[in-house]
Amino acid sequence: MVTRHGQTGRSDSLIRVSRFAHPAGDRHAETPPHERPPLAPDDLNRINPAIWPRTSGRTDGALTIGGVDVRDLARDHGTPLYVFDEDDVRSRMRDWVNAFTGSDVHYAGKAFLCKEVVRWLDAEGLGLDVASGGELAVALSVGFPPERITMHGNNKSAAELRRALDAGVGHIVVDSFDEIARLGYLAAEKGVRPKVMVRVTTGVEAHTHEFIATAHDDQKFGLSLSSGAAAEAVRRILALPSLELVGLHSHIGSQIVDTGGFEVAARRLTTLLVQIKDEHGVVLPELDLGGGYGIAYIDDDEALDVKTIADGLREIVENVCRSAGLPVPRLTVEPGRSIIGPGGITLYEVGTVKDVEGLRTYVSINGGMSDNIRTALYGADYTAVLASRESDAGPMLSRVVGKHCESGDMVVRDCYLPADLAPGDLIAVAATGAYCRSLANNYNYLPKPAVVAVSDGRARVIVRGETEEDLLRGQL
Ligand SMILES: Cc1ncc(COP(=O)(O)O)c(C=O)c1O
Repeated sequence: MVTRHGQTGRSDSLIRVSRFAHPAGDRHAETPPHERPPLAPDDLNRINPAIWPRTSGRTDGALTIGGVDVRDLARDHGTPLYVFDEDDVRSRMRDWVNAFTGSDVHYAGKAFLCKEVVRWLDAEGLGLDVASGGELAVALSVGFPPERITMHGNNKSAAELRRALDAGVGHIVVDSFDEIARLGYLAAEKGVRPKVMVRVTTGVEAHTHEFIATAHDDQKFGLSLSSGAAAEAVRRILALPSLELVGLHSHIGSQIVDTGGFEVAARRLTTLLVQIKDEHGVVLPELDLGGGYGIAYIDDDEALDVKTIADGLREIVENVCRSAGLPVPRLTVEPGRSIIGPGGITLYEVGTVKDVEGLRTYVSINGGMSDNIRTALYGADYTAVLASRESDAGPMLSRVVGKHCESGDMVVRDCYLPADLAPGDLIAVAATGAYCRSLANNYNYLPKPAVVAVSDGRARVIVRGETEEDLLRGQL
């Protein structure tokens, strides 16, 4: 491997990213140590099908997705640009629905939500999780069936709860004693009886290859199983005639590629189901095991096999319920990233290429932590390629950085790009469909990029890019 000035870099050992535990809570990546860069890939032009959208490839050297050349996308829509492969996303929706026949698949809208994605969900027969009044508004704005919506959140306001009740959402997942009282009151006031689930903190925290089955009660989400808070929540709900308790909910982490953590969580939830039956004579009919199913971001990552996860989860739930003498509840899963992540890429234009002698080359692109904050926020890994052409130049250890006023503003921490990379080239970053547009911000007054969907050789804008006028709107 050479840097831009020809020095030999450290490519001697491939560092397999170690994923380790961290304080519990919702988090959308692992934090790798990155002590040394990975090995350069054999072929810098390769579009690894495990990482890139299902319809992507190279035509005349340029990256194409959905039959559309990224150079045309950049010309017609500008950069940075979020590009979604509609066929990829919709086929993953179908994969989940087919693998989970007899169960409910609720897409976690926080991963990325817009009107068009809601239309795709509706057409493909999925449910939808929303975590705020705003996400609920997006779903309702295009007529998504409210009974297929679950409302989440650790601090839903009275206004958000009222809106959910007015809409008649299918489920509300309650997250605190305060909320139980608030929702009970609002439902009674309105004369309705919403279906509720209790979000249970099982003490299991899972990310990719590891899970920790102790000591993760210290977080803002859910009601603790071990402290008895979850059981107390059940008591309080059952005492309120305006609420219908239908099940328990648990979400154990992110980027999970095996079922070990789910098994421990399901066992623990089952102990509570048994306790509820013994104490109240009530058998809860539903169990929601949340989301967190992993995808491949870099060559080394394992991609999740949906069918394996589906069969594994079903078997786990059946086994733990059978051994506890309980009927098998209806299962719900809430995948976000694994549906929307792999089908999305971000397209950037290279502005400057700066070599820091003997270390690496900094490739500045025209976006950054405003359109993808995951790398800066929690050290996420990504794959980037030169997208506007092929190159047979040697590999150049690169850091793809943004244009923001933060030295931690990077999109791809370590990758190899061709040593002839130059300003004006287009770079594509793979697997940016989840938690990039939804976490986008306007730092340094950068407008949020447009989102286009590509399919069958055509591209159409599904979210308009912001303009400076948008940024100034509302300022007095
Ligand atoms: C309750 C709940 N369900 C589902 C998800 C979706 O997780 P993922 O996108 O990793 O599948 C999350 C993510 O934070 C969550 O908090």
